[in-house]
Amino acid sequence: MTRPLQQKAAARGADRKDVRAVCVRCGRGRPYAVVEPRCDCGGLLDPEYDLSRAVIRDDEAAPGARYFDLLPLQRPESVLHIGDGNTPCVHARTLGARLGLDRLYLKDETRNATRTTKDRMAACVLAVFQERGVEEFVASSTGNSSSSFAWGLPYTRGMKVQLFAGRDFVDRHQYTDHPRVELHVIDDDFVGAAKAGRAYADEHGLLFEGGFFNSARREGLKLAYLEAYDQMPQDPAVVVQAISSGMGVYGAHKGAREYMAMGRLRSMPRFVCVQQSSCAPMWNAHQEGSDHIRPHHVLHRPQGLAKAILRGDPTNTYPFMRAITTGTGGGFAAVSDIEMTESRHWLAQDEGIDVCFAGAAALAGAAQLARSGAIRREEPVLVNLTGGERIGPADG
Ligand SMILES: Cc1ncc(COP(=O)(O)O)c(C=O)c1O
Ligand SMILES: [Zn+2]
Repeated sequence: MTRPLQQKAAARGADRKDVRAVCVRCGRGRPYAVVEPRCDCGGLLDPEYDLSRAVIRDDEAAPGARYFDLLPLQRPESVLHIGDGNTPCVHARTLGARLGLDRLYLKDETRNATRTTKDRMAACVLAVFQERGVEEFVASSTGNSSSSFAWGLPYTRGMKVQLFAGRDFVDRHQYTDHPRVELHVIDDDFVGAAKAGRAYADEHGLLFEGGFFNSARREGLKLAYLEAYDQMPQDPAVVVQAISSGMGVYGAHKGAREYMAMGRLRSMPRFVCVQQSSCAPMWNAHQEGSDHIRPHHVLHRPQGLAKAILRGDPTNTYPFMRAITTGTGGGFAAVSDIEMTESRHWLAQDEGIDVCFAGAAALAGAAQLARSGAIRREEPVLVNLTGGERIGPADG
């Protein structure tokens, strides 16, 4: 009975964990640093851990502590728990029967503190920033990530954040009424607001946290999947998520690679990225067999029910998502307003889960692939319901 406690004490007393970053393009390694999102060669830098020694501390309540060995944190005391994680992963028998999927598993990320999976991102980023001495940073999103940052900020020791929002997304920013949170409204779409945020950071000598290219974001989002892989009775054959940049799916894939190396997963699932038909630049590029986003795929001020994933220009991240989907035998899906609306209704009626339209898009993508036969009835399928109904109008 005392073993977990001893392990905990050993972990606490252990020397600082060495975190390395490795370039996914040229393979060069270096010490992990928050201000260095890219390698000299332009490649993405991923944190790398000693997987031969990594352990999952099942007795820890905070996800950051449980999966500490797979996070870019040096000291256990740096972990922040902001009400993130420990969400259910339910075997959806009723909804599965409706869709012809016997092993449909829903990771209910609507149960996070701010009702989206982005709380996991904020918990990890804020902890890593605090540990590395960042006192103020600039960020931008379609609303959910910024709300999670604003929610998590009071848990830090005096850190400040400058949030940049496109005008159409302002009402999606919550918890910003805090003296250390400042919200800047930009008369543009989400991509334009991110550009303004970067310019502000340069001008004021602040850290622009980098979105997809901030590996602490990807590593935080990974935890939704590590939890789900641990909760499912079988390894998932297919993993489905609605994407904007794709950082969540990137984390899911990296987590699967790490779990395979640790012997906790036996095979790599097929990864499926879902977009809404009215804003599906990645799906379009993939349909055309293009390995990059071309000008005619880009949308300015895109519209759609699933506001959280209204990214009209995913030029910088698409190549990573294409590599993951093609590399695992998965793919992209685009779903209509009708499919999202129907899925949202089914989730509420059959499983009692109130999702936003981005969450509904993921289920609609799985339903579509089940109908076409791309997912077989007996295959274990993991769908990440990334976000819930917000306070106020249901705007996804
Ligand atoms: C609810 C929800 N789902 C999915 C996503 C997709 O995020 P990404 O592809 O950037 O991981 C977001 C991003 O804001 C979101 O808020
Ligand atoms: Zn490199």
